[in-house]
Amino acid sequence: MGELVASLSHELRQPVAAIVMNGSATLRWLSREPPDLEEARDAATRIVREGQRADEVIRGLRALAKKSGLQMTALDVDDVVNEVLALARGELHRHGVTLRVDLATGSWPVRGDRVQLQQVLLNLILNGIDAMRAVTAHTRELTVSSTLAETGSVRVSVEDTGAGLDPELAQRIFEPFFTTKADGLGMGLSICRSIIEAHGGQLWMSPRIPRGTAFHFTVPVSVG
Ligand SMILES: Nc1ncnc2c1ncn2[C@@H]1O[C@H](COP(=O)(O)OP(=O)(O)O)[C@@H](O)[C@H]1O
Ligand SMILES: [Mg+2]
Repeated sequence: MGELVASLSHELRQPVAAIVMNGSATLRWLSREPPDLEEARDAATRIVREGQRADEVIRGLRALAKKSGLQMTALDVDDVVNEVLALARGELHRHGVTLRVDLATGSWPVRGDRVQLQQVLLNLILNGIDAMRAVTAHTRELTVSSTLAETGSVRVSVEDTGAGLDPELAQRIFEPFFTTKADGLGMGLSICRSIIEAHGGQLWMSPRIPRGTAFHFTVPVSVG
């Protein structure tokens, strides 16, 4: 958590500095004789943009802080997957992604926070869609599957047919603020991992053959 706070404050310092700088610039442009409204407007626009950036970072922090207040109930993970797929269907369709679903946990109950687990799944699905944006030469296919794993856990996998991940990058994708996207924040996977670990499970990725990436997570089956 300490490491995360360090990178969050690092990440906030930049937009805050830009807001202060552009705020001073706005005041300077306005106090010109006559006021330079064009320049003032540009500087104010940068303030709004940087403020939005800072807000995104804070939202990420809030999602993480929530994990201390998990609302645990008995859940059928397959139900949770179906709920998220209902939400994601439009987005999958819009990006020309074919969805395959194979849910087979046998409805073994887990203890989990429904909303947070939905968040994890949605993040993995949206990442999969992003990864397939550039794909034109073959089918864009997203597979969501679940099974009862040997370890007394339910395991969920989200697989895409995107370009896959450079093994060197694969080490870093779970770090907070690591992103390869121009408009990415890089908080998704680190939040997903901390949610899953708060459930006593694990989240990891593996390359998919012949192409693409698979993300898997486990949640222990609840006994008694
Ligand atoms: N399914 C995937 N295929 C390829 N790369 C991925 C996939 N999911 C995540 N990544 C890589 O991991 C990085 C971090 O992901 P994430 O933490 O969700 O942040 P963001 O989506 O904002 O970039 C992405 O920028 C991307 O480089
Ligand atoms: Mg993401």
